[in-house]
Amino acid sequence: MPREIVTVQLGQCGNQMGSVYWQRLCAEHGINKEGILEEWATEGGDRKDVFFYQADDEHYIPRAILVDLEPRVINTILTSPFANLYNPENIFVSKDGGGAGNIWAQGYGAGEKIYEEVMEMVDREAEGSDSLEGFMLMHSIAGGTGSGLGSFVLERLNDRFPKKLIQTYSVFPNTSEPDVVVQPYNSLLTLRRLVDHADSVVVLDNGALARIAADRLHIQNPSFDQTNQLVSTVIAASTQTLRYPSYMNNDLVGIVASLIPTPRCHFLMTSYTPFTGDQIDQAKSTRKTTVLDVMRRLLQPKNRMVTTTLTKASCYISILNIIQGNVDPTDVHQSLLRIRERQLANFIPWGPASIQVALTRKSPYIPASHRVSGLMLANHTSIASLFKRMLDQYDRLRKRNAFLDQYKKEKMFENGFDEFDESRATVEELLREYNACESADYISYGTGDAEGS
Ligand code: GTP
Repeated sequence: MPREIVTVQLGQCGNQMGSVYWQRLCAEHGINKEGILEEWATEGGDRKDVFFYQADDEHYIPRAILVDLEPRVINTILTSPFANLYNPENIFVSKDGGGAGNIWAQGYGAGEKIYEEVMEMVDREAEGSDSLEGFMLMHSIAGGTGSGLGSFVLERLNDRFPKKLIQTYSVFPNTSEPDVVVQPYNSLLTLRRLVDHADSVVVLDNGALARIAADRLHIQNPSFDQTNQLVSTVIAASTQTLRYPSYMNNDLVGIVASLIPTPRCHFLMTSYTPFTGDQIDQAKSTRKTTVLDVMRRLLQPKNRMVTTTLTKASCYISILNIIQGNVDPTDVHQSLLRIRERQLANFIPWGPASIQVALTRKSPYIPASHRVSGLMLANHTSIASLFKRMLDQYDRLRKRNAFLDQYKKEKMFENGFDEFDESRATVEELLREYNACESADYISYGTGDAEGS
């Protein structure tokens, strides 16, 4: 029985990265832009039904819901060669069409108004599944729609489907070069929902994505389309074991459970190697890719898609390496031994210090210049430094009470800014908990016995 996953993509960023992601899934499964299985796609063994369903005429349709408060991005998708891929009933563009003006409160407020229509799409998709596993949300946390409407949708999804898993792919802004002036407000308010209502959040930050594009693909100032290629590679790899099943990690719950031992610390980092830009000559060079090389590179901070500050105490809570390609399991075993001998990964003192490995097949339809590639999904305490940076930026803006007028217009903020204070407290508590994970007495965190609890 498939364990279906419904994807909800929100706002400019969510829909742009979603669109690249679906193109990639189609290519990997041999589905053409009209949703029809290519004649040559006969290798089989893959599970298309987790992310697609088949219409009466057999063509494949993504289990995706596209939502935006302004029409530009969705119009671009609907005039692209992939226009016919999506179910038109699953596309929602607000009639006002003005977007959320980069204001979280506007996006959240719009949620109240469009709730019925969007939830009807969600319900239809849920009912159309045999055994729905959960939802994947794609959005950015800095603008107005992905953050505000995304927060609203997250709350309601969790409320309506309390037993289903919610995983988000959340694009965090480049904190060193902010492109939205009120992003500290929007990000903080969204983070609160990501803490309280998501089961797992894959954090991708635009600063790190730009750095990786420059270092690995030799693209300075990458376009969104180029960063979204990186993002879609990561999302596709993270769902690889669901789409090419073997005997382990065949459902999302299993993956999430192995990475997230305590419920609130559910913010995951990713690394991927090797990235190749097929259009870019400098990045085409094929390097030696043994399992050990891949695993070692995955542990290098420069390959992480989140920029965090490491301290001596920073450590991994968990690691899952998804290794793709033709791999001999004894190579994996040897590589893990070498990594342990050389102490390349520092783990928490209160849990098993081991890298978990899932071996998975690659799509037979996509030519690859390297034998092995890998994705690391990791829960690492240094993510707290990202939250700290966001809190500092928020405090600086809030101290001046800057740009609050637009927020005041919405119901939630009519009577004051308690919502900001509560969100700040939630994020600060999260930061404290991640810091506490670095000490052995974390086990008693929250009971009053542990340091800092
Ligand atoms: P409104 O424009 O206010 O309606 O909200 P929105 O959610 O549509 O805004 P958007 O998604 O554009 O959010 C802005 C943030 O997302 C900024 O940090 C951008 O750098 C980032 N962003 C926008 N589009 C993309 C994209 O396609 N890929 C990536 N990686 N980041 C994006």
